[in-house]
Formats: sequence, structure tokens, C-alpha cells
Amino acid sequence: MRKIIIDTDPGQDDALAMLLAFGFPKELEVLGVTCVAGNVPLALTTRNALVICELAGRTDVPIFAGADRPLERDLVTAEEVHGKTGLDGPDWDEPTMALQPDHAVDWLVETLMAADDGEITLCPVGPLTNIAMALLREPGIAAKIAEIVLMGGGYFAGGNITPAAEFNSYVDPHAADIVYRSGIPLVAMPLDVTHEALMPKAWISSIGELGTEIGTKTEAMLSFYERFDVERYGDEGGPLHDPAVVAYLLKPELYSGKNVYVEIETSSELTMGATVVDWWGATRKEPNCTWMTKVDADGFFGLIYEALAVQ
Ligand code: RIB
Ligand code: CA
Repeated sequence: MRKIIIDTDPGQDDALAMLLAFGFPKELEVLGVTCVAGNVPLALTTRNALVICELAGRTDVPIFAGADRPLERDLVTAEEVHGKTGLDGPDWDEPTMALQPDHAVDWLVETLMAADDGEITLCPVGPLTNIAMALLREPGIAAKIAEIVLMGGGYFAGGNITPAAEFNSYVDPHAADIVYRSGIPLVAMPLDVTHEALMPKAWISSIGELGTEIGTKTEAMLSFYERFDVERYGDEGGPLHDPAVVAYLLKPELYSGKNVYVEIETSSELTMGATVVDWWGATRKEPNCTWMTKVDADGFFGLIYEALAVQ
């Protein structure tokens, strides 16, 4: 059983990351969900996290509101991808589950400092603002973190919000820079690997055919969410970014990559937020990240289906 904290900006793909984790309660203990501004403003990312926990019947999972803007830059959101609510697709009732009163960063620091060394895995799937703020507040949390498995960045696949940068690292490049310099074991699920698993339409339909509320709402979320990528990339399906983090924790054998040195661009406006990957060791700097580039797409989608079918 691995203890994890999901840091998120829901977002339909973030929702699937949460539902995937909830589908394997024997393997993953979700200690809490910390929300950050990203795909949509914080008020909506927190509301969406509550909605997803209620959908999964996991009102036992504490949810916290965190940073409402990046460390230094103005917030950039992605309603064009996720819709104005951030969770467009299904009709949602307003959540009855309440947010926890503590700020997410306070709870992260308190929870990590009370843990044993290497006890908790962090799973950020949005801008890294909360994680960076916790590290700035209490550097001692680093020893408590087994590893950070994050969705973000892009190198061979380029960027999706600018030609050079992926959304999560673009929105808060200064936070990403802090995390990549932290010395904490990092596993990155960048666009390089998430674009290797495009959602088959038949797979989305099979989820709807589960005939459950989770199945019906997930099909509606994914059908809405994939339209942006299909129109943009012209592919037969869209990438499902954030569940890659949880799938790796459940079945690491689905993924392969390389230990590399990665640095974040925080100066140039042209390449702001770019994850500069030293793939061939040109800098001779010690690797700080396992950068994933390959995935067993069938295994990935099969794992998500399995998680949804048991809830
Ligand atoms: O670039 C994809 C990432 O940005 C995903 O985490 C998606 O949810 C958005 O936050
Ligand atoms: Ca996200």
C-alpha cells in the first residue's frame, strides 16, 4: 500500500487520475487531495475535486484549497480545453461535501513533517505552485517524500500552450524550477509519453456502456474533453494526460524512459516554462528526473477501465 497525495487542478483528465486511484484502494491510500489554480480558477478546481470525490463515494478523502495563482506570474487558465467549469461534459449537482478549513500548503507541510522519511508519494497533476510553496515553507519535507510523480513538461513533443512549453510547467515555471532543483526523486509524465496513448472512441463508449453513474459521467467528460485535441491535433483521439501518474504507481512496467537532467526556463518569454531535457548528457550534470517517453497504451486504458468498472 502506497500513501499518496494528489495535487490537482481538475480538469477532466485530473478527474480520471483521481478515479483511477480510487479504483485501487488496496494499492493506493489517498491521504488527501490538494487543489491549485490551473485549468480553471481555484474556486472551480476545488469545487470539481469535491464533485469527483462525491461521484466516487469517497467523501472520506479530505480536500484542501491551495494557491489561487502562480508564485510570480499571472494565472493562465485553459477553459478552451476543459470548458468554463473545468469539468464540462456531464450535468453536475453542486457538491454537498465540504472543503477542509486548512490551506493546502499548511496541510501538506503538517502531514509530511508528521510522516516517516520516504513515507509519502506526491502526485502533482497541475501547476506545481502548492508543492513549491510547501518546499519553500519547510525544506525538511523533502526527506519525507518517497518520490514526486508528476504530469508536466514536454521535450520531444514540444509544448501545448506555447510551442516550447507544456501547460503545467508554463503556468508556474518558478514552482517547477524549485521542484526540479529539490533533489527529491522525480518521475515525469510529459507530453512525450501522454501523446503516445490517444483515447480510442470505442474505449470511451465502453465506459459509457458500464451503465453506472461513474461510467455515464466519465463518458460525457471524456467526449467533451477529447474534442479539443481531435480538432487541434487531427488525431483520432485525444491524450489523457494526468492518469499516467497514477497508472505508473499501479503498474510501472507500462512505462519506460530515461534518467536525465532537466532544467526549467524561467527567463525568456519565448520559451518560458520549457522543460529543457539533457537527453544526451551534454551538461554532464547529475540526472534529476526519470523522463518517461514510452507507454503500453492498451495496458493504460485497460487499467483505467478496470478502475471505473469496480466503482
Ligand atoms: O498539459 C496537460 C496538463 O495541463 C494536464 O495536467 C491538464 O489537466 C492541464 O492541467
Ligand atoms: Ca491537470
